Amino acid sequence: MKSDSSVRRETPLKGRRIVMGVCSSIAVYKAADIVSALRKLGADVTVIMTANARKLISERIFQTLSRNKVYCDMWCEIDSWKPEHISLAESAELLLVAPATANMIGNFACGLAPDMLSSVYMATKAKVLIAPAMNGVMYESAAVSENIEKLAARGVKFVGPDSGELACGSVQKGRLACVGEIISAVQEILK
Ligand SMILES: Cc1cc2nc3c(=O)[nH]c(=O)nc-3n(C[C@H](O)[C@H](O)[C@H](O)COP(=O)(O)O)c2cc1C
Repeated sequence: MKSDSSVRRETPLKGRRIVMGVCSSIAVYKAADIVSALRKLGADVTVIMTANARKLISERIFQTLSRNKVYCDMWCEIDSWKPEHISLAESAELLLVAPATANMIGNFACGLAPDMLSSVYMATKAKVLIAPAMNGVMYESAAVSENIEKLAARGVKFVGPDSGELACGSVQKGRLACVGEIISAVQEILK
């Protein structure tokens, strides 16, 4: 069997700059597979985690898989004069948010920017792809439905959610779209 370094891979996303927001959905563990798949396709992925996402999963996973620094806090000491959320916003070709919580979708729709990810969203001219994941009743709620409609009308793209058994035990629409579906949506947007 060949060693990993000798495996030739297709890299259709070579050098493409993707900033990926990771929110505190129970589906957060699937974000690791998404980062890994994007990097293997050649993308340069930088992850932003919300403070609550860090309560569910370690930033070290994303640092290792993306091979880049993981951004979490807007208020930590930095070396550059430029605020990091602005540098990230300007550098992105695509802002992918997977999984996206009801809370973060609400921030985006209402123009609220209390943290790094929502500030990057507000400051970027990049294309935006959102993969929601939440309980089905949350997803069907008037607030979430209206926020998604609002964002879609502004040109934001969505992938999923899928229907199926959720972590909360019910069978509803709210599951994070599968990794392959999210990668295809990214490729479609960046092609
Ligand atoms: C174990 C656990 C799982 C959660 N899963 C989800 C989820 O799938 N989708 C969602 O919108 N919120 C979920 N929440 C609630 C969010 O974490 C909460 O709304 C939080 O304030 C969102 O913060 P963030 O958007 O900054 O990550 C979950 C909370 C917990 C404790």
